[in-house]
Amino acid sequence: MCGIVGYIGGQQAAPLLLEGLARLEHRGYDSAGVAVLGGSSGPSLRVAKTAGRVRDLADAIPKRFAGRAGVGHTRWATHGPANDVNAHPHLDAKGEVAVVHNGIIDNAGTLRERLADLGVELVSDTDTEVVAHLVGRSEADTLEGKVSEALAQIDGTYGIAVLHAGFPDRIVVARNGSPLIIGVGEKEMHVASDLAALVRYTTTVAHLEDGEIATVTASGFTTYRQDLTPAARAATKLDLDPEAYDAGEHASFMHKEMLEQPTAAERVLRGRLDERFGTAHLGGLNMDARETRAIRRVKFLGCGSAYYVGQMGATLLEELARIPSDAEAASEFRYRNPIIEPDTLYVAVSQSGETVDTLLAVQEIRRKGGRVIGLVNVVGSAIAREVDGGIYLHAGPEVAVASTKALTTMFVAFSLLALQLGRVRDLSVADGRRLIAGLTRLPEQIESILDREEELAEVAVELSRAQSLFFVGRVRGFPVAREGAQKFKEISYRHAEAYQTSELKHGPLALISPDLPTVAIVPDDELTDRNVGALHEIAARGGPLVVITHETVDLGELDARRIDVPRNERELDPILMTIPLQMLAYRAALELGHDIDKPRNLAKSVTVE
Ligand code: AGP
Repeated sequence: MCGIVGYIGGQQAAPLLLEGLARLEHRGYDSAGVAVLGGSSGPSLRVAKTAGRVRDLADAIPKRFAGRAGVGHTRWATHGPANDVNAHPHLDAKGEVAVVHNGIIDNAGTLRERLADLGVELVSDTDTEVVAHLVGRSEADTLEGKVSEALAQIDGTYGIAVLHAGFPDRIVVARNGSPLIIGVGEKEMHVASDLAALVRYTTTVAHLEDGEIATVTASGFTTYRQDLTPAARAATKLDLDPEAYDAGEHASFMHKEMLEQPTAAERVLRGRLDERFGTAHLGGLNMDARETRAIRRVKFLGCGSAYYVGQMGATLLEELARIPSDAEAASEFRYRNPIIEPDTLYVAVSQSGETVDTLLAVQEIRRKGGRVIGLVNVVGSAIAREVDGGIYLHAGPEVAVASTKALTTMFVAFSLLALQLGRVRDLSVADGRRLIAGLTRLPEQIESILDREEELAEVAVELSRAQSLFFVGRVRGFPVAREGAQKFKEISYRHAEAYQTSELKHGPLALISPDLPTVAIVPDDELTDRNVGALHEIAARGGPLVVITHETVDLGELDARRIDVPRNERELDPILMTIPLQMLAYRAALELGHDIDKPRNLAKSVTVE
């Protein structure tokens, strides 16, 4: 999705803005632009913008582009196609105001008509351009006043940064539903929508809250509510490793992040296991034993892979804690006017903590009096701030659009939640300890799968030749199949569909042919025989098979390529079976020559509905 950067201080802004935008590329975008304020005969705006990549923008910037204050943007088209004109920044009619904006202005149509009636010529198709005109036309004396007046007319979501030639000593920023972070440097200040753009320069930051405006000058910042009443906000020093935002020796962030999974799994467990009582301690849930025991149902809500892993969590929780649990796509949830029950625990699952569909589901639950906890990776993100309690994933920054290590930590966190909820109910101490032992083995087992990259690459190359693939699994294996198909389609752009193995005969079997490989999830469990039976039906129809399984599973005479993964406790098998699927998707995409970290049409954080 769109990204914002800003700089004000003693250095030339343009190179810093370009560097910041390059660090936001992973979020997904289709055009980019910058504006700086400079000039010897009084400050004026210089703007460069273009459809395409940040490197195209760097080529498009003219030689004379000096200015020590500036804003930049990567755009992910929502209103109007990706072209030079629709790229941000957008200017007012006099060319004095430059605005970059993330989010969506819901009443842009009405505002455009109103402005047109006043004789304003709108040059782009965007919703953002109206903000520039509203700021430009405001008669307030200060830039803050102009921005405040403009925002008062706007319905929708925004993170914005505004430059004005008449106020060259400042950038004014505002937030409502779209992240906006201020970074404090030495006699210079940065602005960004994502920490990734800031960490090279500073780790002392302030997150704006919804409904706030801030003035950012070279020497500091001041925050206000939207009506300009003071809202003091201090910057805090974050414990962040800037190296974590670099791919280092890896060809892509996805590769780096897959390989980080063993350490990420260790981190999410650290300090949370209690072997003596066979339980977990999750202080952040903010629930006492009585409240925990009162839970009658658990509902996981997330989007995309966070939803699929939520399905894994629901199965795990139901098995271990014996609480009826299910998962639902957060993007659908609130549209069916859901019944919110006081004895249901709602669990919002999100790596970024900014996915708007998940955030809006959380708000809907809270509005109706429900209790919602968050499983979130990004500390201080919108969902983390909105929920009643939660579990931080400690996966470290995840940059690649295709989520890997965050999902693994989500699964591990679900296990901790199942332990804590299970142990105040039916789960025995012996079973609690059994699970703890399994969790402790996980990092090493994940590593042993990742070590087999070259073996997996051979299979991936074969799969990459197919235009269409099936991923199948049952019960615990079905969300694994869904996640496998999701990873495959996201980065290889092949059609990958997940089905319950049990559903094949009810329709999808008609598609089986030598051109359509099936990747099957077959753990050694109570369903093995039935799973293997279904695979014979596929083989009998000439369908090529790749089977993710355990060494102990006898596939008989089946003509299949098998990938054995280490066994753990059966409840934890799903995550170990997910790891080779990530690698298959990754190596297939590599074989096809795709840009692994920036898959087409996709964004890292989906911050618009
Ligand atoms: C995962 O590979 C996807 N890019 C996507 O489905 C993602 O999981 C989803 O958009 C949710 O993101 P979140 O975890 O940041 O909320």
